[in-house]
Amino acid sequence: MALPAPAPDSVALVTGASSGIGAEMARVLAARGHGVALVARREDRLRELAAEISSAHEVRAEVFACDLTDESARAGLVAAVATAALDVEVLVNNAGFSTSGPFAETDTEREIALVRTNVESYVALASEWLPAMVARGRGGILNVASTAAFQPMPHQATYAASKAFVLSFSDALNRELRGSGVSVTSLCPGPVRTEFVDASGLGEEANSVPGFLWSTAEDVAAAAIDGLDRGKRVVIPGAPNRVSALLGQVSPRSVLLPLLDRIHPSRK
Ligand SMILES: NC(=O)c1ccc[n+]([C@@H]2O[C@H](COP(=O)([O-])OP(=O)(O)OC[C@H]3O[C@@H](n4cnc5c(N)ncnc54)[C@H](OP(=O)(O)O)[C@@H]3O)[C@@H](O)[C@H]2O)c1
Repeated sequence: MALPAPAPDSVALVTGASSGIGAEMARVLAARGHGVALVARREDRLRELAAEISSAHEVRAEVFACDLTDESARAGLVAAVATAALDVEVLVNNAGFSTSGPFAETDTEREIALVRTNVESYVALASEWLPAMVARGRGGILNVASTAAFQPMPHQATYAASKAFVLSFSDALNRELRGSGVSVTSLCPGPVRTEFVDASGLGEEANSVPGFLWSTAEDVAAAAIDGLDRGKRVVIPGAPNRVSALLGQVSPRSVLLPLLDRIHPSRK
C-alpha cells in the first residue's frame, strides 16, 4: 500500500527529528515531496533542518518543539498542529533513548521517562491522528522499534521491553487496519552510530559490537521509508540484523539470556 500522495496541507510528522535516524527520515520524506513537521525538544536543531529541507526540496517544513514525555506538552503539540491546519497523513514515531546497566542501579526517573518517550508518546500520537487517517482512507504510521524488540536484554532491560511493546503494538495495528488504506510499519534497526550511543551511556563500549551489525542512519532511513511505502509490516535493515532478529525469536531463553548478559557492551 503506497504512502498517501503529498498534498499542500498534509505533512509527515516525524518525532525525534533533531538528530540521527529521525532527521534522515525527514530528509527522505521531503525528497519524495512530502511536507514535514519536525518534532523534538531542541528547537534550534529543528529550525536548521527545516531551513535545509525547505530550500533543498521546496516542501513545507514546520517546527514543533515538544518534550514528548510531558502529557500537557503533547496536548500542546496536537493543538499547534490543528491551529496550523495541517493534516498528519504520515506519522513517524521515532523519538527514543536507552539507558544501560543493571536495572537495580538505574535512576528511577530516567527509566520512567524512557517508558513515557519510547512507549507512551507512540500510543498517544497514534491514537490522536489515526482516526482521521482511517476516515480519509489513507495514511501511514512508522513506529521505530529495534532489533532489541526480539528478545529481552539484560543491562538494557527497560529499553528492550519498550521496543518489544512497540513491535507488538505495531503488528497488531497492521492487522487491524488491513484494507483501510492505512498501513503501519515497524522499523527494527540494529546498531546505528548516532547520538543515541553516547546518550545511552555506552559510548566507547559500543565498539565491542561487531562492525558487520552496524548501519548508517542514511541507509536505515531509506529502508524505513521504502518499507512504509510498500506497506511492509516490519523493516529490519541489513541481513546480519535479520539473522540476529530471527535468532532472538527462536532461541530458548535459557540459552539466550546468559549469553546476552555476558556479551553486553556495558560489561566490557
Ligand atoms: N542508534 C541506534 O543504535 C538505534 C538502534 C535501534 C533503534 N534505535 C531507535 O531509533 C530511534 C532514533 O534514535 P537515533 O539513533 O536516531 O538517536 P538520536 O540521534 O539520539 O535521536 C533521538 C531523537 O529522539 C529525540 N527525543 C529524545 N527524547 C525526547 C523527548 N523527551 N521529547 C522529544 N524528543 C525526544 C531527540 O531529540 P531532542 O533531544 O532534541 O529532544 C532526538 O531527535 C530511537 O527510537 C531509538 O531507540 C536506535
